Amino acid sequence: MDRIRIVGGNELHGVIPISGAKNAALPLMIASLLTDDTLTLENVPHLADVEQLIRILGNHGVDISVNGRRERQGESYARTIHFTCRNIVDTTAPYELVSKMRASFWVIGPLLAREGKARVSLPGGCAIGTRPVDLFIEGLQALSANIEIDSGYVNATAPAGGLIGARYTFPKVSVGATHVLMMAATLANGTTVLGNAAREPEVVDLANCLNAMGAKITGQGTATITIEGVRSLSGARHRVLPDRIETGTYAMAVAMTGGDVILEDTDMALLDTALEAIRRAGAEITETNSGIRVVRNGAGIKPVDIVTDPFPGFPTDLQAQFMGLMTMAKGTSHITETIFENRFMHVQELARLGAKISLSGQTAKIEGVSRLKGAPVMATDLRASVSLVIAGLAAEGETMVSRVYHLDRGFERLEEKLTRCGAHVERVSD
Ligand code: UD1
Repeated sequence: MDRIRIVGGNELHGVIPISGAKNAALPLMIASLLTDDTLTLENVPHLADVEQLIRILGNHGVDISVNGRRERQGESYARTIHFTCRNIVDTTAPYELVSKMRASFWVIGPLLAREGKARVSLPGGCAIGTRPVDLFIEGLQALSANIEIDSGYVNATAPAGGLIGARYTFPKVSVGATHVLMMAATLANGTTVLGNAAREPEVVDLANCLNAMGAKITGQGTATITIEGVRSLSGARHRVLPDRIETGTYAMAVAMTGGDVILEDTDMALLDTALEAIRRAGAEITETNSGIRVVRNGAGIKPVDIVTDPFPGFPTDLQAQFMGLMTMAKGTSHITETIFENRFMHVQELARLGAKISLSGQTAKIEGVSRLKGAPVMATDLRASVSLVIAGLAAEGETMVSRVYHLDRGFERLEEKLTRCGAHVERVSD
């Protein structure tokens, strides 16, 4: 199993190209199940989760061809992928495939909308809390689906004439359930109004792509999304939006080590709240023609308190990285996690590097230390693992991060991107 070896202490200087967003690419790929025409996605990141979803979609009958790459310094950073699902050949998403990645559960929406039935295994994915699927079930039932849970599978069927548009208000904001209900409602009879919908940029990206395919969606990016059902959708060509989590992660890495880096092909508007927190911690952040410039010279890191929240709040997917940054702040900071109940697994690993963190319920208290010292650490989930990389970049000596497959799920060419900016990061294959 691969590990990442980091020798800390170097500043970061240079340019980091930001990839297409994993969390946008996954639902966009799933949307290809809604049409018998070709959906072409540009700027798709090369990640383990994307490859896994390609396998899952192939199982349902999606024909997939990859061509065209965005080249940079001789390396490809993005792919254009064509998805064509002439016929859905299987409406079952089996446990062996779904258990590896929670987002694959989302195929339930398009399968039900197009074929009138779906049998999808209850999901797995990152071990960050119980992550139930009650909102998906309630929402699909509101569209008149009949749902039964049997032997670990959700069996869903639509009425004979197809799903029926309805008004449904989510009791809690859910990105995934918003994606699924939006996709299912595009082909329903009549109009659907989703209240308390997720406002994340990835939801907006999916809605824009669905509209390019002929859907009639308005209100994306607000808490109320209206979907007027249409008879069928066509193909489209759509570019996946930049990864705001990757953007924020590298911005925090620069804030941690010091230096001067341009984050290319990304957009400040995608992560205002997180960038504001990084600024308050002491980095200078400015907009450039091609993206964002992050600079921290000399001055130390200041403590900043944050609370995670649905968009436009501070993203839970950047919480672990921000904690990494705060471990070396000059003072005490507090980080409160409100989205997932078990998303502090990085705390004990950061402690191995010398961080001083105590937990009380959903709040972590971080007393900044003047130095971290490299150590062997273990990645526990996708975002937690990259917080260890950030801490390792500033720690004295060698940090060896094991279970790197977590990183490969969500960060494209991480070690290359950091090495080009002067970091000592290498992949070690055993
Ligand atoms: C997505 C992101 C993930 C991010 C999360 C929150 C993808 C592929 N993943 O995950 O990176 O951390 O949004 O921004 O886009 N919940 C329920 N019942 C449900 C569904 C969700 O109680 O039926 C709860 C979850 O347990 C969690 C909260 O709602 O506490 C938010 O989860 P949700 O927004 O659904 O996260 P995901 O879509 O799984």
